[in-house]
Amino acid sequence: MKRVFSGVKPTGHLTLGNYIGAMRRWVTVDQHQADALFCIVDLHALTVEHDPARVCRLSRQAGTLLLAAGLDPELCTVFVQSHVDEHARLSYLLECVATDGEMRRMIQYREKAALERGRGGSVRLSLLTYPVLMAADILAYGTDEVPVGDDQAQHVELTRDLAVRFNQRYGHAFVVPRATHPEVGARVMNLQDPTSKMGKSDDVGPGIVYLLDEPDVVRKKVMRAVTDSGQDVVYDREARPGVANLLEILAACTGGNPEGLSGVYESYGALKKDTAEAVIEVLRPVQQRHKELCTDPGYVEGVLRDGAERARAMARPTVDAAYRAIGLLPAA
Ligand code: TYM
Repeated sequence: MKRVFSGVKPTGHLTLGNYIGAMRRWVTVDQHQADALFCIVDLHALTVEHDPARVCRLSRQAGTLLLAAGLDPELCTVFVQSHVDEHARLSYLLECVATDGEMRRMIQYREKAALERGRGGSVRLSLLTYPVLMAADILAYGTDEVPVGDDQAQHVELTRDLAVRFNQRYGHAFVVPRATHPEVGARVMNLQDPTSKMGKSDDVGPGIVYLLDEPDVVRKKVMRAVTDSGQDVVYDREARPGVANLLEILAACTGGNPEGLSGVYESYGALKKDTAEAVIEVLRPVQQRHKELCTDPGYVEGVLRDGAERARAMARPTVDAAYRAIGLLPAA
């Protein structure tokens, strides 16, 4: 059975982008067809300025939401990255095969570093090495496939490069993974700025639909989405990014494709109304289950504890073998 690994970073409340771009596929496809692990990558949340109590709270919330969205601990492994030491152990080894030039070329590093500097802050070294830790997450489990949104494609490419390089230098230690992306919704854009990604760590609240937004809030955000100056509702990502984004969200929520919806609507208002209702319908069962799970925090904790135990048992042999391959003296 193929191995699937993916993760979500607790730097903000989970968004519709996380759901459409990644989580939905984990729930509907990956957990049924693969030996799948889904990780709340809390160590990654420490790479930018953070509030310790908030990261802790968001990690618990992410665990609850992953289960609310439909991940089933009978079918897959859900756990928290910092509960499994192997991620940090392997990350260091991979730092010894990665180069600083490679790290500095990463788009997300450049964007986030520029943002931090723009705010007058300094850039944490861990932001530079972020992709190496991500590679460790993936490679520790012999992962075949990494289901992610488009924005993670470059990181998965780097992971492949590091795996191949390590294997060539030190003997076969890692499976070389590949990214998979959803056909529709691999990059959901901000409703207020459809040329930039809907990201949970951004500050522009009105352009972001959160998984726990009440129906009225969703309606308001979608109805106020920035559209384009034209009149006809056609799908054109370049010329009409605002309308294209709404068509993609609608298609992703109703199981269609955005090209098929092109020309169907007579006005932006009608498109927005249907999109809002479709999003509300997708979120409804997730929110309902989230509410139920919040009454039983012990259950979620138990799932994460068992998940970490299973994950540790899977990662340890791979990471131990990599330690030996690279020349470290075994402890016993
Ligand atoms: P994160 O937490 O930013 O996002 C989690 C998943 O959601 C996808 N995603 C989106 N997809 C479409 N449209 C959007 N607007 C959108 N926003 C987010 C992301 O592509 C991702 O699949 N570096 C990763 C976390 C990570 C990871 C890993 C992922 C750490 N280690 C190992 C896979 C494997 C991140 O920041 O995801």
